[in-house]
Amino acid sequence: MDKKTVSKIRLFLDGLILRMEENKPFFSDMTVIYKSGAKEFTALIAYEENRLITDYQAVKKQIAPDGLAGFICSEALKYDDAKIIYNERGQRIVIEHDRGKVSLKHEDNISDTPQESVVKVGREYVVNPAAAKELLTEIGILAKNGKIKNDKIRKYNQIDYFAELMRDVLKEIGDRDEYVIMDCACGKSYLSFVLNFYLRDILKKKCSFIGIDYSDVVIEASRRIAKNLNYNNMEFVKADLREYTPPKKVDAVISLHACDVATDMALAIGIRTGAKAIVTVPCCHKDILKQYSYEPFTAITKHGILKARLADTLTDGLRAAYLEAEGYKVSLIEYISPLETPKNIMIRAVYTGRKNPESKKQYTLLKRMLNVEPAIERFLNGTDKTALSSLVKDWDI
Ligand SMILES: C[S@@+](CC[C@H](N)C(=O)[O-])C[C@H]1O[C@@H](n2cnc3c(N)ncnc32)[C@H](O)[C@@H]1O
Repeated sequence: MDKKTVSKIRLFLDGLILRMEENKPFFSDMTVIYKSGAKEFTALIAYEENRLITDYQAVKKQIAPDGLAGFICSEALKYDDAKIIYNERGQRIVIEHDRGKVSLKHEDNISDTPQESVVKVGREYVVNPAAAKELLTEIGILAKNGKIKNDKIRKYNQIDYFAELMRDVLKEIGDRDEYVIMDCACGKSYLSFVLNFYLRDILKKKCSFIGIDYSDVVIEASRRIAKNLNYNNMEFVKADLREYTPPKKVDAVISLHACDVATDMALAIGIRTGAKAIVTVPCCHKDILKQYSYEPFTAITKHGILKARLADTLTDGLRAAYLEAEGYKVSLIEYISPLETPKNIMIRAVYTGRKNPESKKQYTLLKRMLNVEPAIERFLNGTDKTALSSLVKDWDI
């Protein structure tokens, strides 16, 4: 695109970014789709933990709101076309450059797709939005008109499928009078609320939930939702997972996108408390990335992006081996399409009671070879020295 076109985009964009800051509580995300010929490149922009983050070319970076227009426009100069989709609650604004013309239009950000066709993207929901209307409206998945909000469709696909997979996991650990489930790094607890509905209202199983998060805001929000819905079987505790011990026996530990080592904290709590099932979908993997080196892989690891992708695999592989060594049967699955989220590997562990010395050997060999001290082990043997403040900084960037 030439400079003149990009400066037209910039005019619209400056207004949009001002709006983003003013409407921060309602702002959801911004997606920039750059096009060159038939190729598309996407940049995602959203707040995470109160910091504005760009996710572009597989790298996440914090950005100041007043640097955002500059970033988007300087990248736009490298491509033929660009489309900017801005989402806030109930509203979508699209700035588009198409064959020389720059336009801005407003759209209602509510899915007008018939609910059935949303439900049938590859599978039926187990918690049908129509049946769980009150719940899904309360947690902000459904709009007032009873349809899933556009910006929540992916999240809902993920949690509904997570819930469905939990049915088999709970079957595997055997019948209980009541399933006690702990959601580590629960955030606003979408997963717990939907799973609770699925187990209690659909499968008619007695269950109770403990949601843990160290953020006051999300714990308060989760408590408020539970109160409004009269869900007395759910409690939410503000705590740092590294220090938390549940007050009662937990049958299953779950976590969805617990950032970086928070997933290891969830696994460690599960092992420490003898949970019969631990099911996690990890998020970013920074811990091993920061530590590992392996000379024979230099041709690969000299490329930052490949080093990072390899670190993801090494991290989850080490976690799986550790769980096996501790007596869990482990399966790793790509639980949802990467189009829904690239963070789509689920680690499913069910306790067998049989420690696995072979996995222990493999784990020890691998960590020596890579010269790493994985977080899961540090949390279990109490040698983790990472200051919370530095973890928070790392996760958010
Ligand atoms: C990406 S959010 C995921 C939230 C939720 N599970 C979901 O999928 O919507 C990660 C959450 O982890 C929480 N978290 C990170 N480290 C934690 C720790 N050490 N103790 C408790 N919560 C933590 C953050 O506060 C945040 O709410």
